[in-house]
Amino acid sequence: MKILYEKKGRVGVLKLNRPDVLNAIDAEMLKEISKRLEEARGDSEVRVLVITGVGRAFSAGADVSEMEECKPSKAMEIARRGLRVTREIERFRVPVIAAINGYALGGGLEIALACDIRVAAENAKLGLPETCLGIIPGWGGMHRLVRLVGESRAKELVLTGRIIAAKEALEIGLVTQVFPSDKFWDETMKLAESIAKKPVKALEMAKKAFRTAVAVRIPVRAGITYFAEVFKDEETKEGIKYFLSEKKLKYA
Ligand code: COA
Repeated sequence: MKILYEKKGRVGVLKLNRPDVLNAIDAEMLKEISKRLEEARGDSEVRVLVITGVGRAFSAGADVSEMEECKPSKAMEIARRGLRVTREIERFRVPVIAAINGYALGGGLEIALACDIRVAAENAKLGLPETCLGIIPGWGGMHRLVRLVGESRAKELVLTGRIIAAKEALEIGLVTQVFPSDKFWDETMKLAESIAKKPVKALEMAKKAFRTAVAVRIPVRAGITYFAEVFKDEETKEGIKYFLSEKKLKYA
């Protein structure tokens, strides 16, 4: 199972579970996330959902091995299905906390950006390094990042592909709290429980109200088209092949 799900009282905990590849997100994993979200949505006991990763990463991003020999039409499909899941998280009935336990890169960070609250362990590393592979973020992350940290910082992070430490993520408002690694899980659950003890109606309505206040309209077609466009490019193909053979980012 690429996703683990358990309930701790009123808190649902969804864990990305491909630790051998730092929880890289492939098509099957996206499907499993959707399925679990659907189940948790229908469970009236759940008042907060926490998303985290098994092992040393939250998630190192979309699975690059699915992008090898990838035609623009397949790239569109990758963008479409990832975007769908980030929207499901964003519209989830009750608050969702991203518990960033380690690397949150690329699509991994895009999942976290769709959550309502992001907290990080002090050793976590965050970034959108897609341009270092010759691609761009395709799951709505750029729009959400602009909203969260402002356009200048968002552009700097995407165009350089720079990976930042938890401390800097806190300074720029990308996460709201950083916990010492050994206390990370306990502190995250304390936060989740402090929200979960509130009346569920208030949580649901607060979430809906925030959506009308801050919702970003992600121009779906444009985002998907630009993501697909780079897959026509030879330098992109080289960047992806290079990572899969050398385990390094060619354009970092
Ligand atoms: N897709 C597929 N596999 C990935 C992956 C991804 N996004 N990120 C990591 N992995 C795999 C590695 O290929 C490696 O697999 P292997 O053990 O079969 O060789 C395994 O996860 C462990 O990664 P490794 O690179 O050995 O760990 P590290 O600690 O040296 O480096 C990272 C960690 C996160 C810096 C590095 O893996 C990386 O740069 N990953 C890509 C990040 C990225 O560009 N994400 C956006 C993708 S769109």
